[in-house]
Amino acid sequence: MRGGALLDMADRDLQLAELVAAVRASARYRTIDPQVIERVGRTALQRYSSLKAAIKATKTELHQMIGAYADQAPLYDQWLAELRQAMDGTARKAVCRRLMAAHASTRERLPALEQLYPACFGDQPPQRILDLGCGLNPLAIPWMDLPANAYYAAYDIDTDLCSFLQAALPLLGVQGEAGICDLALGAPPVAADVAFVLKTIPLLEQQQRGAGVELLRAIQAPRLVVSFPTRSLGGRNVGMATTYRNYMAAVAASEGWSPRVIELPNELVFVIERHTPSRSRM
Ligand SMILES: C[S@@+](CC[C@H](N)C(=O)[O-])C[C@H]1O[C@@H](n2cnc3c(N)ncnc32)[C@H](O)[C@@H]1O
Repeated sequence: MRGGALLDMADRDLQLAELVAAVRASARYRTIDPQVIERVGRTALQRYSSLKAAIKATKTELHQMIGAYADQAPLYDQWLAELRQAMDGTARKAVCRRLMAAHASTRERLPALEQLYPACFGDQPPQRILDLGCGLNPLAIPWMDLPANAYYAAYDIDTDLCSFLQAALPLLGVQGEAGICDLALGAPPVAADVAFVLKTIPLLEQQQRGAGVELLRAIQAPRLVVSFPTRSLGGRNVGMATTYRNYMAAVAASEGWSPRVIELPNELVFVIERHTPSRSRM
């Protein structure tokens, strides 16, 4: 490599480090996994000649990925204390309901909690569950009627959220793990009986065209529960149901899947049985 090219690379690395530091200085993005910030920032630096513009573009994309869904800073320590104090199933459900209301995605699912999970699982509650781009959905475990030895593996890109969920899983009565996984780069190497991919595919497709389909193909689970929002975060109906029905119809046709559809007030859920053996690592 010539000296000039080496200097260029060092320059770009320096710019990237500066960008990541600038983005992480903002409380809103501090908890996003630094490697995700780097991935988004690298693309922004290729697109914009000024560092300032690249930082702004990175923040905008991160906001769409994660920031737009939380209305208030989560109080994880307090939430854990509340979960610890919940002495029985009824109290635990009451706390979980309240906590799920803090995230737009889980909040709009609250009226459907009693119906959704039995409708997904039928008479076969899974023992091993993957939850990809999980947000606060693991707090719906009390409604899932999982067996005593259930193992729940949840992944997202927010470090504080994952630490909270790691501590919360035993309080919700399951064994499990919560960790960082950038789904735009692929599925975690973990097998399960069912994988939830709730309202996350549109975000992945926005981050990298084709990343949503790639993810669905790569997940190691015979049953997928994949959902899409049917209203914008502002509550508008802008043809999203048709768009995502068409999206899933195209994916299902190319993969030979016959999804079952569950319609919730703000969400379209597809249950896909793939009949592929899962390669267990759990
Ligand atoms: C619309 S929310 C859905 C949350 C949850 N699945 C639900 O439906 O309640 C999207 C979630 O995907 C996560 N996310 C966005 N981009 C991601 C990526 N590249 N890899 C993993 N998770 C991602 C966000 O942090 C957020 O928690």
